[in-house]
Amino acid sequence: MGTDIHSEQLSLDFLRVCEAAAIAAARTMGKGDRRYSDQVAVEAMRKVLDTVPMRGRIVIGEGERDEAPMLYIGEEVGLGARTHRQNDYPEVDIAVDPLEGTNLCALGANNAISVIAAAERGGLLNAPDIYMDKIVVGPSSRGAVDIDAPVKDNLENIARRLGRDVEDLTVIVLDRPRHKKLIEEIRAAGARIRLISDGDLSAGISAAVAGTNIHALMGIGGAPEGVLTAAAMKCLNGEIQARLVFDPERLGVDRHKVPPAEKVIARLHAMGIDDPNKVYYTDDLAPGKKIIFAATGVTDGALLRGVRFFGAGKRTHSLVMTTEVRQIRFIDTVHIEGGPNTVIRF
Ligand code: FBP
Repeated sequence: MGTDIHSEQLSLDFLRVCEAAAIAAARTMGKGDRRYSDQVAVEAMRKVLDTVPMRGRIVIGEGERDEAPMLYIGEEVGLGARTHRQNDYPEVDIAVDPLEGTNLCALGANNAISVIAAAERGGLLNAPDIYMDKIVVGPSSRGAVDIDAPVKDNLENIARRLGRDVEDLTVIVLDRPRHKKLIEEIRAAGARIRLISDGDLSAGISAAVAGTNIHALMGIGGAPEGVLTAAAMKCLNGEIQARLVFDPERLGVDRHKVPPAEKVIARLHAMGIDDPNKVYYTDDLAPGKKIIFAATGVTDGALLRGVRFFGAGKRTHSLVMTTEVRQIRFIDTVHIEGGPNTVIRF
């Protein structure tokens, strides 16, 4: 047994972790090499994670141990992972996405972010790296949607909760062939759609923040992003409902491009998931009582500005949230590298 988690202190450590990953990735913006952008973000994140006073265990990371050199699922990170005095540190489960939107960064497009979520042991679902159907809404629409209900009903319920017409709603959907029917249904219901090329995690967060003019995220994206979204929803009072998807027909891909269903189901069993069709609610994906969520903008986005480099340093914009202490912080950090005459702008 380790010590208690102190969310306020740890959240500032995770801020440093995200800032480092975002700065490293942002340096590669527009180079057109998504793998390289991801690699530098992973390396930077891992380096700073190892300075955090905790016994961290990666539950959502860069892949299984044999596919990722670092931040793989099960990897132990933090100061407490490399000492014989392990009980001096809190045990923390960690979900990371060092660069969410690798393509966005590689192309210099909006909404690439670096993300980390953490909780006490068992506080974040150990989800497989497969697809997940999701519906994400903000606090006003919590309890008003049902992932199994017709799209039209969900949109009418969201509109009612927000005191507006369905025509006044904006729904974000990943621009993928698999969403043809979903897009038709949203259009038929009358809502507006913002199609995005990547980045359904930052889109989900935007849906839970009033003033972004995003009212829901719908459709199939990554399951790891679903767990990270749930951690953010716990902090923002939003809601996610989700279901794992591995049927090639629903994904609209060649049967040979996804592992056979029996293989996925066996892997899910091994991970403790007995019902592959289960609907996951926010608390199933992120059951933790002490959730910490941090994200730093890599490129400019709806909520966060991207990293800005200037002669004497760089500036980062981050979102840091905790549930134990109910705090949502937008943090604008100037990392000064110049001498005593460095000028800081507002
Ligand atoms: P990466 O950061 O790993 O490139 O993921 C970006 C993303 O768009 C996620 O936001 C989304 O959940 C997922 O990819 C969708 O997967 P796909 O591109 O295979 O449809």
